[in-house]
Amino acid sequence: MPKITFTYDGKKIDVEAKEGESLLEAALREGIPMEHACGGNGFCTTCRCKVNKGSENLSPRNDREENMGITEDSDRLGCQAQIHGDCEIELAED
Ligand code: FES
Repeated sequence: MPKITFTYDGKKIDVEAKEGESLLEAALREGIPMEHACGGNGFCTTCRCKVNKGSENLSPRNDREENMGITEDSDRLGCQAQIHGDCEIELAED
C-alpha cells in the first residue's frame, strides 16, 4: 500500500493509502484536517497542498486543477490528485 507522509501544524503523520484514492480521501480517513469547502469537486482550492516528494506517484494534473490555477507538479488539489505510490504532502497553513 502506498505510504503518504502528511505534514501540518508542525506534525508529520504517516498514512497507508489505498491505490487510486485521492489525497483528500486518505487525509480525512485518518483525521487529518485537509480543508474541502466544495466537497472534493475541484472548485474551491481549499484542499490545495504542496507535494514535497513523490509527485510522479500521483495522477497527472487534470483540467479542474489547471482551471483553478494549479500549474506546477509540486502544487496539487488534494481532492483531484489520486495516489499511485509513496509521497510527502504538506498542508497549507491556516
Ligand atoms: S475540495 Fe474544493 S477543490 Fe478540492
